[in-house]
Amino acid sequence: MELKKITEQVCSISKEVGIFIKKESVKFNASDIKIKSKNSLVTYVDKTAEKKIVDFLSKLIPESGFIAEEGTSNKKGEIFNWVIDPLDGTTNFIHGIPAYCVSIALLKNQDLLIGVIYDPNQDDLFYAWKNGGAYLNGKSISVSLTAKISDALLATGFPYYDYQKIEGYIDTLTWLMHNSRGIRRIGSAAIDLAYVACGRFDGFYEYSLNPWDVAAGSLIVIEAGGSVQDFEGGENYLFGKEILASNLHIKKQFLNRIKKCF
Ligand code: IPD
Ligand code: CA
Ligand code: CA
Repeated sequence: MELKKITEQVCSISKEVGIFIKKESVKFNASDIKIKSKNSLVTYVDKTAEKKIVDFLSKLIPESGFIAEEGTSNKKGEIFNWVIDPLDGTTNFIHGIPAYCVSIALLKNQDLLIGVIYDPNQDDLFYAWKNGGAYLNGKSISVSLTAKISDALLATGFPYYDYQKIEGYIDTLTWLMHNSRGIRRIGSAAIDLAYVACGRFDGFYEYSLNPWDVAAGSLIVIEAGGSVQDFEGGENYLFGKEILASNLHIKKQFLNRIKKCF
């Protein structure tokens, strides 16, 4: 399997679908919003985008299966599975905030092989394949060189439906407010991770994310020379609903703080 060539194909469908989503943002209105569960919204745009992606990828690797947010296909691949968030940042999209993206990853068994994130508003195409490096619009990217949390700009996602770990979350946030350069909440976990990969952010943490929120971004961070962990410092960040990503310099201090707080 030529990973670079497959990545190029995934980039092309991500761009096509990202441009479709951006076009729909001006036609879209409140009656198009459906509520899946508390604060979890969906629109025909998410669903149509996912269908376009699944149709394309089904032809690209016919034996592959899908872990896709809107459930377009429940086919499970024996070896290969695509992990898809057709529109990461739906709440932003609905409110007219231009911070959302398409996120697609390929898993071989439990191994991430490809990650692609396309933000149509910035025209930022982030991608990586295993052992191939990470790129933004054709240029190689790396995580930041920031050596201390006190100089770090960090990102997070606020809890909005699962409040079970909110105390640990707030304790971490309070500590970071006192001890970092600042914290951002963009509203798209995939963009947060892509920004860690290219050094715009030095680190990111969030809990209660799903595999489709973090799969592509995790591989892009790793290939950009960064670290991705769960809150115990282990590797269960894809399905384990806890993620901590950063450059290698602040990795230890960031993890120790998370461990103390959660
Ligand atoms: C959401 C975004 C957001 C994060 C949420 C996700 P969606 O994804 O990534 O930043 O805080 O937890 O669910 O629902 O817009 O695809
Ligand atoms: Ca998402
Ligand atoms: Ca989504």
